[in-house]
Amino acid sequence: MPLPKAELHLHIEGTLEPELAFELAARNGVTLPYADTDELRTAYRFEDLQSFLNLYYELMAVLRTEQDFADLADAYLARAAAQGVRHAEIFFDPQAHLARGVPMGTVVEGLWRALGGSERNHGISTRLILCFLRDESAESAMETLQAARPYLDRITGVGLDSAEVGHPPVKFREVYEAAAGLGLRRVAHAGEEGPPEYITEALDVLGVERVDHGLRCVEDPALVERLVRERIPLTLCPLSNVRLRTVDTLADHPLPAMLDAGLLCTVNSDDPAYFGGYAGDNFAAVHRTLGLTEDRLRELARNSFLASFLEDDEERRAR
Ligand code: HPA
Ligand code: ZN
Repeated sequence: MPLPKAELHLHIEGTLEPELAFELAARNGVTLPYADTDELRTAYRFEDLQSFLNLYYELMAVLRTEQDFADLADAYLARAAAQGVRHAEIFFDPQAHLARGVPMGTVVEGLWRALGGSERNHGISTRLILCFLRDESAESAMETLQAARPYLDRITGVGLDSAEVGHPPVKFREVYEAAAGLGLRRVAHAGEEGPPEYITEALDVLGVERVDHGLRCVEDPALVERLVRERIPLTLCPLSNVRLRTVDTLADHPLPAMLDAGLLCTVNSDDPAYFGGYAGDNFAAVHRTLGLTEDRLRELARNSFLASFLEDDEERRAR
């Protein structure tokens, strides 16, 4: 029995496996610039975040209808359930779809076809988090938030993703204020490739409750001390960090030191179809390669529920 866990850092578009990409391409008459799944898989060698994002956005071309988004989310939920995921807070990137002429309603209602039945069908409770693309303008983010207003009963919070360096959190001050005004929870990617200062800015300017990645906090002892003191959760993604070369090898990952420092770390999969593993695979990898004890793994699983947006009673039931 895999350890029950919550997944708090998961881009639904990053769960698009090559087989499903080709199936959806055929269904929608989209031609992918790869002969087959084997050839596509050879493209999964990344130098950095941007080289991954190029492929991530390219493959999204196959997602066109509500049913496509439902099939994508259902496939993720089935895989996640098999790895012990009981609760998932799921990012989606509406701007990447709106830009292709796929409306907000198609994306949200499509995802909801799967998420609305996720407890019944997969034993997983879910939340949706709308991410703004930080390499797009602040105006575009605000328009996206407005486009989401009819669907806010389906959306728990907002996040910030895509190319980090050169796009500091402060760029999105107004849209995060507007999101808070609408009662949305706030998270943001910070300190994946960007400097520790982006983590501080995400906390102080955007008012985030949780930091996605946050890995580079280790470069600033005063920031680590603050994150420990304020019990700010970090949603780490070890296999992602290896594939995007944020760390040299998994053996070099600072997770054990971060736990020793008292940081509220969680382990997640980010874009599992691209990075070689779902939530349980990430747990297994840090167990095997970083020598984390069973107690440490249980701590990580407990942290994942503590750091989630579940209410206390829901949290207990999920565990
Ligand atoms: N980082 C930033 N943006 C992203 C990622 C990531 O790992 N995955 C999907 N969008
Ligand atoms: Zn991410």
